[in-house]
Amino acid sequence: MVGAARSRTGPWTGPPLTAVGFGPAGILSGVTTYDAIGATYRQTRRPDLRIAAQIHAALGDAATVINVGAGTGSYEPPHTVLAVEPSPVMIAQRPAGSARALRATAESIPLADDSADAVMALLTVHHWTDLEAGIGELLRIARRRVVILTWDQTVQRGFWLLDEYLPEVAAFDDTRAVAIDRLTALLPGFRTETVPVPHDCTDGFGAAFWRRPEAYLDPEVRAGMSIFAMTDEAVTRPGLARLSDDLSYGRWHERHADLLDRASLDVGYRLVIADL
Ligand SMILES: C[S@@+](CC[C@H](N)C(=O)[O-])C[C@H]1O[C@@H](n2cnc3c(N)ncnc32)[C@H](O)[C@@H]1O
Repeated sequence: MVGAARSRTGPWTGPPLTAVGFGPAGILSGVTTYDAIGATYRQTRRPDLRIAAQIHAALGDAATVINVGAGTGSYEPPHTVLAVEPSPVMIAQRPAGSARALRATAESIPLADDSADAVMALLTVHHWTDLEAGIGELLRIARRRVVILTWDQTVQRGFWLLDEYLPEVAAFDDTRAVAIDRLTALLPGFRTETVPVPHDCTDGFGAAFWRRPEAYLDPEVRAGMSIFAMTDEAVTRPGLARLSDDLSYGRWHERHADLLDRASLDVGYRLVIADL
């Protein structure tokens, strides 16, 4: 949650929700990834105010926003009218007063066309089973703007953690990352923005700790990152042991001295903004 105001119980200005599927039609069966790994999400994934400001600026003057793949509600502006999220474990962690949550996937959103001025989807498209269907749904339910936060794997692959310590994880990420070209080909009138990550970023996503390498040795920090939660510990153990050694003997600090006085870094995160 960002900002003081979370009075999300305000009036829904879109079509009547009962008519578009708040009932059993929106309920999924089966366990999603975040049902299995999301239980401690809010402990390490606190929205960063600087990133929030960039996302909110990208949403522009939208008076109503729907958040798809909303998780626990990070980065939702006060005028969010609805969250769309498949995982009950994530929905259960939404703060009191958050926008109502509809349990559904991006690929099939039981809402009418043009349901809100803007639709945002943050760090979620890589989890979708059908990107084209999901983006089609965002474009359908948004009246004016779609804002997506994702990462460019061609940049993130060079992040020291992946490049030097966890090449197997980088290879896995290669398979799940959504190529920016593939995404933007689906979005008319798009523009992209780099989202620099502050050195003290409060949102513990994958590359958030680029200047705080010790954090990656903390199992709780890793539990909040899907890349670790979805990778067998046996795969990451040797690389993390090497990182631990390098930190103990000062080798990491020698090699990455250039990072230590940087305030923020481009580790590949991108906002894709489409005007409809
Ligand atoms: C990394 S979390 C991001 C949550 C939130 N947007 C944020 O920025 O903190 C990814 C979210 O995508 C959701 N998700 C997974 N598959 C999805 C799908 N097919 N449609 C919509 N959301 C999905 C997960 O349940 C999870 O809450």
